[in-house]
Amino acid sequence: MQAATSTQVAARRAERRDAPFANRNRRGGGAVPASLVALALLAGCKEPALPRYDFDSAAMERGREVIERVGCAACHEIPGIDWPKGRLGTSLKGFDDIGLIAGALPNDAENLASFVRNAPATKPGSTMPAMPITAEEARDVAAYLYGMNDV
Ligand code: HEC
Repeated sequence: MQAATSTQVAARRAERRDAPFANRNRRGGGAVPASLVALALLAGCKEPALPRYDFDSAAMERGREVIERVGCAACHEIPGIDWPKGRLGTSLKGFDDIGLIAGALPNDAENLASFVRNAPATKPGSTMPAMPITAEEARDVAAYLYGMNDV
């Protein structure tokens, strides 16, 4: 077989490069298929009206597990966590009633989740270390701290 000329090679490359665009056009100019839109709408309907970390017992239970796993109680006394009862940080008893997180941030779920995950980034100069938890886990931890007086 004869070696392809450079023009042929270039033409083949161009074909390959254009292929994805050609495919997309066949599917209707890149429009999102109606079935996907329907799926997205369905998924949207399942969202709870309130953030699910507001007194959601499943989230609280996950939060408790996270708190135990990463050892928040090494530094804090935390209701519902029997051991240890650290004293380096403040007791978190009645925490849901305080006005400001660490004396600095409005005590809402978003600030709390952000603070327990990365205190120094949330409150510059905070002496609480950043904790190895995901944003999702931080929301569960916040749910636990807000709901713990009720358990
Ligand atoms: C190494 C010790 C240490 C660990 C571990 C630790 N904290 Fe803290 N925590 C502190 C210190 C110190 C403060 C005070 C920080 C400040 O004032 O900025 C604090 C503050 C807090 C506050 C604010 C308390 C208040 O009265 O405003 C909360 C809530 C909190 N920690 C939750 C947690 C949670 C949840 C974990 C685990 C994910 C955790 N902490 C892990 C040391 C720790």
